[in-house]
Amino acid sequence: MRVLGIESSCDDTAAAVYDSSAGLLSNVVSSQVPVHALYGGVVPELASREHIRSVVPVVERALSEARSGREEIDGIAVTAGPGLIGSLLVGLCFAKSLAYAWEKPIYGADHLEAHIFSIFLEQAVAFPFLALLVSGGHTSLFRVSGWDDVRFLGGTLDDAAGEAFDKAAKFLGLGYPGGAVIDRLARAGNPGRFAFPRAWLAPGSADFSFSGLKTALRTFLATRDGRALPVEDAAASFEEAVVDVLVGKTVEAARREGVARVVLAGGVSANSRLRVRVEEEGRGAGIETYLPSRALCTDNAAMVAFLGERRLSDGRSSGPDLNAYAASRFPR
Ligand code: KG4
Ligand code: ZN
Repeated sequence: MRVLGIESSCDDTAAAVYDSSAGLLSNVVSSQVPVHALYGGVVPELASREHIRSVVPVVERALSEARSGREEIDGIAVTAGPGLIGSLLVGLCFAKSLAYAWEKPIYGADHLEAHIFSIFLEQAVAFPFLALLVSGGHTSLFRVSGWDDVRFLGGTLDDAAGEAFDKAAKFLGLGYPGGAVIDRLARAGNPGRFAFPRAWLAPGSADFSFSGLKTALRTFLATRDGRALPVEDAAASFEEAVVDVLVGKTVEAARREGVARVVLAGGVSANSRLRVRVEEEGRGAGIETYLPSRALCTDNAAMVAFLGERRLSDGRSSGPDLNAYAASRFPR
């Protein structure tokens, strides 16, 4: 089965084609970074308008790179939620119209599930595993016991880790989006130079909180009174505070759940320090770590096409009432 996937939940317009036997045939992402950089964050209304501009050329490119047209495509998968509702509706309405016109089945994919299962595009992982989903919009831990058995264990009570990275970069005058810039600068910095707080919350809690850390950085910068800042050290110290909590809570949750495998997903899982630390500490705790390549960490449609192929192969298409949803469907 060959599936066209479409993703437009935030600020990337993406389309991809995945084939059950040939694998990933195309994976196209159109970034809106230049549009939002001016504002230091994603502006939802502008994101929707950009998706409208990009969705047709992006889908056309994904189809042409996969040398596929109406005849070769067996089904369509589209991100239904969670995400920015205006952005989601652009991809969803386009996908529904195409499915109707081409008379193909459609599957409305959950963005979080698509991230969690994106690892399977590159390597097999035995169930059960723990998934740490860290992106600009999410920081959550899941126990994944099967394709239909994903249980939410905990998540951020305020900012997502990616949001914290982006805000930190903004405070440090490093531009937008900041995660990748902090990652690069931090490699030349001393992570022990400045002490930033770690929010561990209640013992055993799988929840996260990054708003205090963000405020701590802001206060720290305000009290430097114009003294030159060793920006690499500040970036490394901030990054270390985020990574300590992400790794500590993930390893602890894996132990508690009796699970020996951990999968990372989402934009922040591209972070070099996080990748090294989770592998190191996982190994020490007898846990195997699975890291998607960086292109599959950030938002993409390959993960949507892949999940769609699984579901549609199982005969699980969505009905004409398929609609977009903004909030996570995983109960707290
Ligand atoms: O998954 P994603 O592309 O979009 C969302 O669904 O949010 O994640 C984007 C987030 C941004 O906050 C970005 O700063 C962060 O991922 N990010 C990183 C790195 N690359 C992207 N954060 C830390 N280190 C990186 N290398
Ligand atoms: Zn995402």
